[in-house]
Amino acid sequence: MQQWWKYAIGYQIYPMSFCDKNNDGIGDIKGIISKLDYLEDLGVNLIWICPMYDSPMDDNGYDIRDYEAIYAPFGTMEDMQELIDKANAKGIKIMMDLVVNHTSDEHIWFQKALKDKHSPYRDYYWFKEGDGKGNPPCNWRSVFGGPVWEKVPGEDNMYYFHSFSKRQPDLNWNCPSMRRELGEMIARWMKRGIAGFRVDAINFINKDAFVSHEVDGPDGLVSCFAYTRNVPGIEKYYVYLKEIFDANKCVTICEATGMPYEELDVYVGEHGTFSMVFDFNYTNIDVENEDYFRRTNWRVESYRDLLYDSQLQLQKVGWSAPFLENHDQPRCINKLIRNEKYHAVGAKTLALMLLSLKGTPFIYQGQEIGMVNFKRTGIEQFDDLNAKSQYEQSLANGFSEEESIYFLNMRSRDNSRTPMCWDKSQYGGFSNHEPWILMNEKYPSINVEDQIKDETSVLNFYKKVIHLRKSDPAFVESDFEAYPLHKDIISYKRGKYTIYINLSDKDIKLDIEGNIVLNSYSDYDGTLKPYQGLITEQ
Ligand code: GLC
Ligand code: CA
Repeated sequence: MQQWWKYAIGYQIYPMSFCDKNNDGIGDIKGIISKLDYLEDLGVNLIWICPMYDSPMDDNGYDIRDYEAIYAPFGTMEDMQELIDKANAKGIKIMMDLVVNHTSDEHIWFQKALKDKHSPYRDYYWFKEGDGKGNPPCNWRSVFGGPVWEKVPGEDNMYYFHSFSKRQPDLNWNCPSMRRELGEMIARWMKRGIAGFRVDAINFINKDAFVSHEVDGPDGLVSCFAYTRNVPGIEKYYVYLKEIFDANKCVTICEATGMPYEELDVYVGEHGTFSMVFDFNYTNIDVENEDYFRRTNWRVESYRDLLYDSQLQLQKVGWSAPFLENHDQPRCINKLIRNEKYHAVGAKTLALMLLSLKGTPFIYQGQEIGMVNFKRTGIEQFDDLNAKSQYEQSLANGFSEEESIYFLNMRSRDNSRTPMCWDKSQYGGFSNHEPWILMNEKYPSINVEDQIKDETSVLNFYKKVIHLRKSDPAFVESDFEAYPLHKDIISYKRGKYTIYINLSDKDIKLDIEGNIVLNSYSDYDGTLKPYQGLITEQ
């Protein structure tokens, strides 16, 4: 059977920053509904929306208080149903975000677990005794900084575990009643007519033995990644998840940071748990260990080889979902087009690359107009909890305030969370009200309205590439073939097409094969210009 999602063009929406229909400064569901025509016109037909559930918003919705209620400023369950129905009527499928590694500390399960040490809900989470001398069970650092253990108020030697913020306690996947409740919740969401889920941080659900390891930072802790992420034995939990997904016919994408390719089979193999996977192995090229202050001076060649490897490994085993941006990443132009002079043309070249890769491509809101990072001058201008933590860690590691702000400007998650720029009016047509997060000051020059009118815009180029991709199933079905020609060029073949991406600011002489079907510049004279991209056909 042909799987429709392999032919889909994906688009990610960050609801808080997409469109604010009732003008309170916060994006909402009615806002998304009002932009369905825009999305249809762009040519996308599968939308992943970041968490919309009721939440205290410690981590902008990745801390869920109630899986079956909508965050009030976003709207109501009726609005959500309207969105699903209207999108479906246009042939646009919706994927929700499924956050089941952890809940909010305000979730009723956790509240009950906290209040009563004999509550059955204690088993839904990870409660452990400390060493009795005032120390938690082990010395791991959580993803957002600080220890993974938080003391249970009112008890002497008891702690609960969190991989992310202390307001995101991890769920215990060994607990059958917890799994059953999540399964029922998923079934009810599927009945509302969604296609499935993007599955958040799911490779964190198995934990290593809670023992201390050698300290790796000035805070006296050690990064938890090696002990909470992709921990051997995780397969048994994926079997539970697969039962739930299969029973409900969910289409799923797994967020798998740090995933080793040897384990791909478990994720997306013939009997794997997920339909597709977001592979990050080529994404975090600019930093080490996901720390903003450990910047790398990467070479195009290494990026190319990582991308080749990702494509080749994935097509052997299953299906991928290539992406260049998301709500946790900086804008791809700033990351990959390292000479500002070429940002506009580079945005087109990256479109050409993303949409000619194998797998279901995902475009992140604003990427289609070539949105860029913003520059902030002080820590008080940042919103994200991880920006604050990374700033502290950067200072503690000996960097100056100025350097630390520079790192945030390059990497902070606030970069991609600024409001979508629809036009050049105040607040970029996102709202009439001051937005919840600072606007990117670029909206007068980078916005949807202007780009619709300009035939040569990034937006119209995206439409062209999407059109080309949809016009020939070869872009979906044919194998990815690495075709290395030059250290600064990412080149590959997809069936009768050859793709050439110059990811440097140098002119590179090159004999190309076939006829040009798409060009991010207006011509080609035998030399690939800085950041020029081509698709040729034979
Ligand atoms: C994922 C989300 C990120 C969130 C984290 C914890 O990585 O994409 O935004 O902070 O999980 O839920
Ligand atoms: Ca609103």
